[in-house]
Amino acid sequence: NDHLGKGLPLSGKKVLITAGPTYEAIDPVRFIGNHSTGLMGYELARNAAKLGAMVYLVSGPSHLTVQHSNIHLVKVTSADEMFKETTSLFKDMDVVICAAAVADYRPKSVAEQKIKKTSEEFSIDLVKNKDILFSLGEMKKNQFLVGFALETENEVENAIGKLKRKNLDAIVLNSLNDKGAGFGKITNKVAFIDKNLDIKTFELKTKAEVALDILNEITNRIHA
Ligand code: CTP
Ligand code: CA
Repeated sequence: NDHLGKGLPLSGKKVLITAGPTYEAIDPVRFIGNHSTGLMGYELARNAAKLGAMVYLVSGPSHLTVQHSNIHLVKVTSADEMFKETTSLFKDMDVVICAAAVADYRPKSVAEQKIKKTSEEFSIDLVKNKDILFSLGEMKKNQFLVGFALETENEVENAIGKLKRKNLDAIVLNSLNDKGAGFGKITNKVAFIDKNLDIKTFELKTKAEVALDILNEITNRIHA
């Protein structure tokens, strides 16, 4: 139905979305990860494509799949791989939404062989991963750049801090205070905060509906 796409809100737009967790290798059989399923990012991708966009979905390990002729799925494992794929696609994009739960740290070195349980105590040195969204903020020309913020305290203040520090056009604040929101849930409760600090709060809804709300806020602003 590509020929019907002309009149849709995002037709002609290229949208890059990051989704899912990242896995940071410890040894050949172990990793550090998190509970992200990728659902929020995959719903953003599916709905952006439905709204006419050409979508580039860069996803960490996830059991989810997408089937749409306008969605290019790029699978990655680590934060470093996600950084490489995302920064190489960035220049040509119109809208970029970073919904991935990127690991902040990775093991300083990856053991070549499986680590044996020799001692009673064991620790792993970690080093900071590159902040993908921050780097995109530095590279930004005309792209509309959106981040997510997951906070457990001073939610709005911390989200605005990230919006400014990372040079974003908007940030989506995930409310973990709501029982229906967060990792492994099909529902989410968010607030959309733009760079003028206009805050729009949404009710608890399915992640598919949340994705549409977010894309709607973005579309209104890129067409304004
Ligand atoms: N993000 C990213 N690359 C990273 C870390 C985070 O692109 N290495 C992005 C996330 O995809 C999200 C946003 O930055 O869109 C905010 O992530 P969050 O974990 O809430 O914030 P951090 O900046 O990592 O700060 P902290 O975890 O200390 O709160
Ligand atoms: Ca983080």
